[in-house]
Amino acid sequence: MTKTFHIRTYGCQMNERDSEALACMLRECGYRQVMAEEEADILLFNTCSVREQAERKVFGKVGILKKLKRRRPDIIIGVIGCMAQNYGRKILDELPHVDLVVGTDRMHLLPEILQDVCTGQRGQVHTEPGTEVLGKLRGHEPGRVSAFISVMRGCNQFCTYCIVPYVRGREKSRPLPDIVREVEEVVAQGAREIFLLGQNVTAYGLAELRDQGEYRPDVSPFADLLLAVNEVEGVERIRFTSPHPRFMNQAFIESITTLPKVCESLHVPLQSGSDRILKAMRRGYTSEDFMACIQAIRERQPEFTFTTDVIVGFPGETPEDFEATRRVMDAAGFEMAYIFKYSPRSGTKAAEMADDVPRALKEERNQILLQDLERRSAAGNDVYIGRTVEVLAEGPSKRNVERWAGRTRTNKVCIFPPAKSIQVGDLVQVHIERATPNSLFGEVL
Ligand code: SAH
Ligand code: SF4
Ligand code: F3S
Repeated sequence: MTKTFHIRTYGCQMNERDSEALACMLRECGYRQVMAEEEADILLFNTCSVREQAERKVFGKVGILKKLKRRRPDIIIGVIGCMAQNYGRKILDELPHVDLVVGTDRMHLLPEILQDVCTGQRGQVHTEPGTEVLGKLRGHEPGRVSAFISVMRGCNQFCTYCIVPYVRGREKSRPLPDIVREVEEVVAQGAREIFLLGQNVTAYGLAELRDQGEYRPDVSPFADLLLAVNEVEGVERIRFTSPHPRFMNQAFIESITTLPKVCESLHVPLQSGSDRILKAMRRGYTSEDFMACIQAIRERQPEFTFTTDVIVGFPGETPEDFEATRRVMDAAGFEMAYIFKYSPRSGTKAAEMADDVPRALKEERNQILLQDLERRSAAGNDVYIGRTVEVLAEGPSKRNVERWAGRTRTNKVCIFPPAKSIQVGDLVQVHIERATPNSLFGEVL
């Protein structure tokens, strides 16, 4: 009988992308994907280690499956991805009912590993590092308007707070022609928007140039990649995440502000506005460098909107450091941000420093930044009232299925009434009539 599987994904878009490819590979091997966990013979958890909270969720979730396992011993439970890489065999000590642990670099072997597990070889652990996964974990969900494409894996930055370089290994970029071929494939399947993914996309190709002794600070292989994707017929929009400010050079800025398909919205992680804290984080830029990038982009393309990641309560963060973060966020005009309370990760440099900002103060700083954001995004969205914008139609809105949702090029959610003439993936002109801090509302012209 065909075995069914269910994948639950935690963490970042890189994980979402890995899960999508993995599901395609498993379906090709004859497994059937189910959306309901209760219907699955195989339960896979693609996990994240970036903060303690993310790990706790998985330990909790997989922990309570012990009961299910007792009732249905034939069920297969797998912990895969970053936590698997981080803890390896230790996961089995904590959760003995888990049947397989497969790290980030071994994910492409999952079909084979599952076969072994199905024939009784349970308790398998695969965490050997390697780079073959990059080309081998492939396949796309057909019919998506917006397609994720992984352009590199790993990270070489070693920001002092971050576990990603330890669980994802060294930076490795895919060859440009491979990526372009994949873009052409997804476009042929209906994709209109291409989302290029990597932990540090602005460093795309740089490690390879360094190895060949051809690195220069003024080149940007990522800009070359954007140019190549921009030329693929059928691509309407290009987005990417995450760019590291340290590698945002002139060539990159020119490229994103001039290529017609690259959207006018940039998610660029600030982490802190205090130069002292940025140094302790080993980010490799000052608040001034950061603002210079934002200003250079704005001067060339005033339409650009910016979003960011910020950590509050990094070791030693004083009220002055925090105020510096507020000031830079305000100057950059961030309307949306992921704000994280610092969480020490064992093995990182920062974990050796005292986690000395009390939890309540981290929470208070988090709330203050959220209020600042709400105020800015309300003002930022009001600007659209009365204007006509291009929206990529994505289909019925999640909140209200009687309405359709899409995004502007500046990445604002736009809600509009459906019409027979509008299909998923169409670019429509919407006249904005009202706005909230989260969305724009309008009529299709
Ligand atoms: N490569 C991306 C970020 C990947 S991790 C970049 O450098 O921009 C996503 C976000 O998680 C980071 O931007 C950071 O804000 C947050 N983060 C990472 N480690 C953290 C930690 N130990 N505690 C709290 N937040 C953390
Ligand atoms: Fe982590 Fe820094 Fe790499 Fe981003 S750039 S993944 S924050 S080490
Ligand atoms: Fe988490 Fe791994 Fe992404 S640690 S943030 S899922 S790279």
